[in-house]
Amino acid sequence: MRLANKTAIITGGASGIGRSAAMIFAKEGAKVAIADLNIEGGRETVKLIEEQGGTAFFYEINVSDSRQMKNLISATVDCYGQLDILFNNAGIGHPDVKSVDLDEEEWDRIIDINLKGVFLGIKHAVPQLKKSGGGAFINTSSLLGLKGQKYLAAYNASKAGVVLLTKNAALEYGRDNIRVNAIAPGVIDTQIIEGWKNDEKKWPIISRANALGRIGTPEEVANAVLFLASDEASFITGATLSVDGGGLTF
Ligand SMILES: NC(=O)c1ccc[n+]([C@@H]2O[C@H](COP(=O)([O-])OP(=O)(O)OC[C@H]3O[C@@H](n4cnc5c(N)ncnc54)[C@H](O)[C@@H]3O)[C@@H](O)[C@H]2O)c1
Repeated sequence: MRLANKTAIITGGASGIGRSAAMIFAKEGAKVAIADLNIEGGRETVKLIEEQGGTAFFYEINVSDSRQMKNLISATVDCYGQLDILFNNAGIGHPDVKSVDLDEEEWDRIIDINLKGVFLGIKHAVPQLKKSGGGAFINTSSLLGLKGQKYLAAYNASKAGVVLLTKNAALEYGRDNIRVNAIAPGVIDTQIIEGWKNDEKKWPIISRANALGRIGTPEEVANAVLFLASDEASFITGATLSVDGGGLTF
């Protein structure tokens, strides 16, 4: 098993990419903590993991709250004795809006969850990973952290920030045997894209705007996350791995 004897936290583990990653991590031997705002979805992920013979617990958290993030790390270590992997994945999108019409409150909310949430995960988990003798962070950026898209200023900026935050932490903690990588998913079939699906004009374009001509599944992203979390990626740090069906080829 590729994550035998490892302990992992997955933020945003109540659905979509986070749930898939949690299930595959558990299948590969990791004990997992599912951290999310969504209590019902989080508990459902735990149930699915237990049904497949794995070990998991749910922890309710808003990732943009420093105290809650710190408590999540402590609770995981209290429960499992150590921490090896943090998948900083929780995130939100926002409806299309021109920058001049984007409310400052909405800007702050997106940056707080998508970017500050990742920073807080790194800030509070590094001391614990050092105690474990090293470990791995995987941070969820986006295709839209690598290329611009009209009317998504806050999302673009938050996800681009994750790319450089990842490089920064890789530099700061590499000598502590801590690897820090990001993934940049393209259009993936989760609830975050439900709004786009209802747009009869845009969806046929968005859903095929990559080399493979289709959207991806959460499992396809989770497989990349598993690789980056595992020892198979032992010489990879500071990287952002595109999992986008070739979305950046456009
Ligand atoms: N689906 C895509 O097309 C796509 C593409 C690129 C990047 N992403 C990114 O992937 C990540 C996962 O999204 P997904 O597609 O699985 O969507 P999703 O909506 O299914 O999952 C996001 C999860 O994050 C949780 N969450 C939101 N805000 C939170 C907060 N403040 N604290 C704790 N949990 C919170 C939600 O409850 C949800 O369970 C996000 O960071 C998203 O931006 C998704």
